[in-house]
Amino acid sequence: MRTPIMAGNWKMNCDNEQARELAAAIAQNAGDMQDCGVILCPPATALTMVQAAIEGTNIGLAAQNMFWEEKGAYTGELSGPMLRSCGCKYVIIGHSERRGRFGSVADDFTAELQKIFGDSDASVNRKIKAALSYGLTPIVCGGELLAERRAGQTDSVVKGQVQAAIAGLSAEQISPIICAYEPVWAIGTGEVCDAGEANRVIGLIRETLAEAVGSAIAEQIRILYGGSVKPDNVRGLMEAPEIDGGLVGGASLKADAFCELIAVAAQVGE
Ligand code: PGA
Repeated sequence: MRTPIMAGNWKMNCDNEQARELAAAIAQNAGDMQDCGVILCPPATALTMVQAAIEGTNIGLAAQNMFWEEKGAYTGELSGPMLRSCGCKYVIIGHSERRGRFGSVADDFTAELQKIFGDSDASVNRKIKAALSYGLTPIVCGGELLAERRAGQTDSVVKGQVQAAIAGLSAEQISPIICAYEPVWAIGTGEVCDAGEANRVIGLIRETLAEAVGSAIAEQIRILYGGSVKPDNVRGLMEAPEIDGGLVGGASLKADAFCELIAVAAQVGE
């Protein structure tokens, strides 16, 4: 039995005061949650503030990205040890927005955004290795673009992303990783993936992991769904047997909505 996880990815939202308020409200409501893991992923500027607000609760702290080097002349980047010193236990790696693949920003600037954010399969792999070496649990993201889905490439894209992400890692290194299937067309668009289809693709991710680590370990790995998870669609998603929780953007910015998602995941997971 896999304990579900609800991770709130705040993206580039919340100044420090807003972050403190949001984290405190979630901690008050869900701080002692046992049946669902709760992870908050604030912007880097608010990590310390949020850590103070969740101190002593069961809620975990995650960063939204990291660089693989330990320290040095990498202006604007953050290392694993820095994130650890802010209280992080987790780090999101390879979110589609960091790969420059956006569901909701369909403008002429997309190619430029890909260069600016620029995570690739290779950099995702290096970041995962670095995160693990610094004692951070990676939340590894992947998912297909709408054009890839329309072209019938969903399975090959997702499988390829998973294989590239875990390349060169031992079964022991892979076993604590958390994965997230996030179809890019469903992120921030309000268009959720059908629970049956999300369940199918997550099953494929588990099979791909099993090819590398064997099915006993793959059965233990938590694989989340992300993309427009909301209180009105969360139950169907959480009831799907392969889906072990959610990586939530928009709905994680409201304490009431996010706590409702946590409550449903905990209830369904029982
Ligand atoms: P969304 O974002 O819930 O706003 O669609 C999900 C994510 O990008 O993690």
